[in-house]
Amino acid sequence: MMFVSLFFLFLLMDGASSKENCSYQDVLNHLNLNYNNKLFYMTRPVINYTTVTEVNLDLLLYAILEMKEKEQLFVPYVWITMWWNNDYISWNPDEFCGISSLSVPTEIMWKPDLTIEETIEKDSAPPSPYVTITSRGNVELTNDQVLVSTCRMQVYRFPFDTQSCNLTFKSFIHSDEEIKLVYYGNSSAATEESRELMRTQSEWLFINITVTSQTIQYYSFNQTLVIYTINMKRRSALYIVNFLLPIVFFLCLDLASFLISDSGGEKLSFKITVLLAVTVMQLILNDILPSSSNRIPLIATYCIGIFALMMLSLLESVFVMYLTEKDNAPQDNETDEDLKLSEDKRDKTRPEREVNKLSHSTSGCDVSPIKTPSEMLPVAKEDGNIQQMKVSLANDELSQLIKTLTLHLSSRKEEAKPGYWTRVAKRINNAFFLFYFSVASLFLIYMFFKWVQ
Ligand SMILES: *[C@@H]1O[C@H](CO)[C@@H](O)[C@H](O)[C@H]1NC(C)=O
Ligand SMILES: *[C@@H]1O[C@H](CO)[C@@H](O)[C@H](O)[C@H]1NC(C)=O
Ligand SMILES: *[C@@H]1O[C@H](CO)[C@@H](O)[C@H](O)[C@H]1NC(C)=O
Ligand SMILES: *[C@@H]1O[C@H](CO)[C@@H](O)[C@H](O)[C@H]1NC(C)=O
Ligand SMILES: *[C@@H]1O[C@H](CO)[C@@H](O)[C@H](O)[C@H]1NC(C)=O
Ligand SMILES: *[C@@H]1O[C@H](CO)[C@@H](O)[C@H](O)[C@H]1NC(C)=O
Repeated sequence: MMFVSLFFLFLLMDGASSKENCSYQDVLNHLNLNYNNKLFYMTRPVINYTTVTEVNLDLLLYAILEMKEKEQLFVPYVWITMWWNNDYISWNPDEFCGISSLSVPTEIMWKPDLTIEETIEKDSAPPSPYVTITSRGNVELTNDQVLVSTCRMQVYRFPFDTQSCNLTFKSFIHSDEEIKLVYYGNSSAATEESRELMRTQSEWLFINITVTSQTIQYYSFNQTLVIYTINMKRRSALYIVNFLLPIVFFLCLDLASFLISDSGGEKLSFKITVLLAVTVMQLILNDILPSSSNRIPLIATYCIGIFALMMLSLLESVFVMYLTEKDNAPQDNETDEDLKLSEDKRDKTRPEREVNKLSHSTSGCDVSPIKTPSEMLPVAKEDGNIQQMKVSLANDELSQLIKTLTLHLSSRKEEAKPGYWTRVAKRINNAFFLFYFSVASLFLIYMFFKWVQ
């Protein structure tokens, strides 16, 4: 009893006297920690070499900066914290005004040689200049890094895809007998923390982080890897609006083009224009998607399917035009003859009219060089008679005109009455429209279910 109370008294006295050792430098002096002491940074800081240095690892996802499908790059911004034990560091905080931790330059401390397998570019940002050491010999290093890493992306379901990218931590040269990597916490904790921290996710929606460790067996030694898998989902709204819907609209336009009449080239040029618009979409797609994927992405199937449908409808239009042309070919000759006939008639009537005008202007004279049918009529040289003559002439002309008109009209009627091939073409048109519409609908439904499942 006496001994115990004495011990406490001693402790108290010691605490009181240590009030003078209140600066960080005092701690460093106590540890003999300075740039000249190689003890702290030359070798793995263990007193007995058989001791395994356990390196704890914690990763927080701060932002998803970029995802490049074409280059298969994943660029996250992460905070990596790791801590391990240094056998040479220990002090009693009570001796040093309660100082329990302090920071020292990174260079004078041994650090594990951790690397991330997936990174392909060294981070240009300088590493954290300080490590924190605690009185129990714990050393903690925190780094924030922009990691440019590779990630094999599956773009099969392209705008509705979820991607998972790995960040695999391991030591360059140390085996499990020297360094053992362990992750801190668990998947749900890492997910929660990252979700709270997350600043920007660009077009991606962060789902979760799963963390696992895996021991790999090499020839001479085993090594533990810590794998952080970041799952994220693409925000597809913009792709739907800018990509999927316009193509459906083009398909609708192509369907609507069946209302345009087959005669004339408008229908064809309209269809070709719509087809070209889909081609432009395909070109854009080619810029986004990587060519490395084994399976053809659904969106490429969607584009090429609709392109093929539109091309079929274009071919059908060409065919129908060919059929109607076939029907029109002999009729074209007829109408030409009609035209010639009417022209002949007009030529015949022309002199009459000219003479009419002449007779009208020279109404006082009896000179009439050319015989006209009107001259055969008994003509009086009075104004009233001339008027009468004109009326009769006009009647003549009118009847001629009506004759030619009716001729023309009858020929028109013949033209309007559909020929055999035209009727066949019309039937083909109707049948194809039904086929086209149903196949297009089935295709869209099929694609929808493929995408959703
Ligand atoms: C301060 O620390 C030095 C070295 O550790 C020690 O010799 C000295 O006694 C300490 N002072 C007090 C008041 O404890
Ligand atoms: C070092 O550790 C090994 C195994 O733990 C033990 O057998 C050995 O005695 C230790 N050596 C010293 C000097 O402590
Ligand atoms: C990520 O790591 C897991 C676990 O080892 C593995 O199954 C998966 O294939 C890896 N993913 C990628 C994209 O490498
Ligand atoms: C994950 O860790 C948290 C605390 O860190 C704990 O509450 C939770 O139960 C753990 N979850 C699992 C699945 O181990
Ligand atoms: C994380 O998300 C993936 C994909 O949604 C899921 O398969 C996995 O079970 C999730 N993991 C956890 C720990 O929630
Ligand atoms: C590696 O691990 C396996 C099983 O975990 C063990 O059988 C083997 O002896 C280990 N190899 C070395 C070199 O430690």
